[in-house]
Amino acid sequence: MNKEYNLEKQHIKGKLHAIERIKMLLDENSFCEIGSGITNYGSHTGKEEKKLPYDGVITGYGTISGRTVFVYAQDFSVNGGTLGLRHGKKIAHIIELAIKKRCPVIGINDSGGARIQEGVNALAGYGDVFYYNTLASGYIPQISIIAGPCAGGAVYSPGITDFIFVIENISKMFVTGPEVVKHIMGQSCTAEELGGARVHAEKSGVAHFYHQTEKSCFQDVRRLIEYLPDYEEHKKAKEGIIQKLNLNNIDGIIPKESKKAYDVRKIIAELVDDDSFFEIQENHARNLIIGLAKLNQLTVGIVASQPAFLGGALDCDSSDKGARFVRFCDANNIPLITLVDVPGFLPGLVQENDGIIRHGAKLLYAYAEATTIKLTVILRKAYGGAYIAMCSKHLRADMVYCWPEAEIAVMGAEGAVPIIYGNQLKGMMEDEKKVFLEEQLVNYKKQYINANTALEEGFVDELLLPEETRDRLYRDLVALEGKKDLIQIHKKHGNIPL
Ligand code: HXC
Repeated sequence: MNKEYNLEKQHIKGKLHAIERIKMLLDENSFCEIGSGITNYGSHTGKEEKKLPYDGVITGYGTISGRTVFVYAQDFSVNGGTLGLRHGKKIAHIIELAIKKRCPVIGINDSGGARIQEGVNALAGYGDVFYYNTLASGYIPQISIIAGPCAGGAVYSPGITDFIFVIENISKMFVTGPEVVKHIMGQSCTAEELGGARVHAEKSGVAHFYHQTEKSCFQDVRRLIEYLPDYEEHKKAKEGIIQKLNLNNIDGIIPKESKKAYDVRKIIAELVDDDSFFEIQENHARNLIIGLAKLNQLTVGIVASQPAFLGGALDCDSSDKGARFVRFCDANNIPLITLVDVPGFLPGLVQENDGIIRHGAKLLYAYAEATTIKLTVILRKAYGGAYIAMCSKHLRADMVYCWPEAEIAVMGAEGAVPIIYGNQLKGMMEDEKKVFLEEQLVNYKKQYINANTALEEGFVDELLLPEETRDRLYRDLVALEGKKDLIQIHKKHGNIPL
């Protein structure tokens, strides 16, 4: 071990050292360092006497479960892990190498931000990193671990990457720190309130994975890597006889009464391989569940309405959460399985004022533009615009299925009947009105709230029994492997509503 590493300085802060982190993350003895000799002799730091070994960031490559990954870890014990020109160039170089090799890149952030004494050279270093993060986006998976402070413009490098891991009491992530907030805005808050791990995992939605300890965080990053596409191998779905994949434990999960809630995770757990569901952004926008899973060993992305929270309605945050995940899966050619039980978009002043139009449009756009395999199962409700948005046939889902109790309609009976019969109701007495409404509610439910029209029109391909679903989805994945979308307009890029 390099004797210049100052492990103690990190340990007294309750943190691991950059080199310990890399070793914990990678397979044993697999780390190969790049650029260890790059040193800053203080010409830019203003501290001429102080040399900054490896300019405060350790970079290189190694393996996770045998797969190559590129990695960098900022060393807070070297001038606060601050980023100067060389430090920035080292990170940019690592991302560039990961692009060339087409494999994941993992950044471990622990830094005071731009090295103030380096002035514009520090900003240039950041500029390089942001540029390469953007170039890599959608081509290789990029993972950020926030293992200390990540302040100022520095947040935008993780911000561009696909997945951000935060750690309780260790991660602090904000554009402007508590002192500046106090000075400029007159607001008092702690660093934890402003950008602690929980804030980003629950409220802001910036983080995708939350951990109590560094060790469990690194273990989870290793797990995530196992779900990501391996571009070194040209994976072909297994050929030959597909054994029948029955589902036995699905009965009774969805309550008979359509307004009753249930936890859609129970359905997911039955549909995918045992213990393979790897949930993302678990504590943020809980009305929509997203995550990676394996279906008979093939990686799939799951997007599912969660009736246990806000009835599974779509709102601003869940639309954003879903849209970004759909785009991640599409960019990496991971098939999407969408499980629908959605009463609609969440109504109300707050949602409208927060821009549900703009946010909901992202989900529609992301699904419509995705060309990866798209399979949809309507478990129960699919109403209105949300029916379309949740990967309907109209957004070019490859297959849409429904379960026997599916309700597909423009809106629920309680909302629709008074609109349809508004004029007739005007002339009625209260008693008469009540009887009439009750009758019409029953009629409406019978006539409109089912999957019949959707099946007749081909908007739903097949009605499936729950127990048949796993098998059918797996067959679709195999059959559609390598599919090409016919309609592709060549353009520079679309303009997704941001
Ligand atoms: C130069 C810095 C520094 C910085 C920390 N240090 N931040 N040096 N530039 N931005 C140095 C300290 O002088 C100290 O050096 C060592 O790093 C450790 O810092 P401490 O303050 O002793 O550590 P700690 O008490 O743990 O506090 C950590 C901290 C604090 C919360 C991160 O250092 C801090 O608030 N730093 C400034 C954070 C910030 O505002 N960054 C944004 C910069 S602007 P010695 O020699 O004593 O060990 C920016 C814009 C980027 O990032 C724009 C990109 C587009």
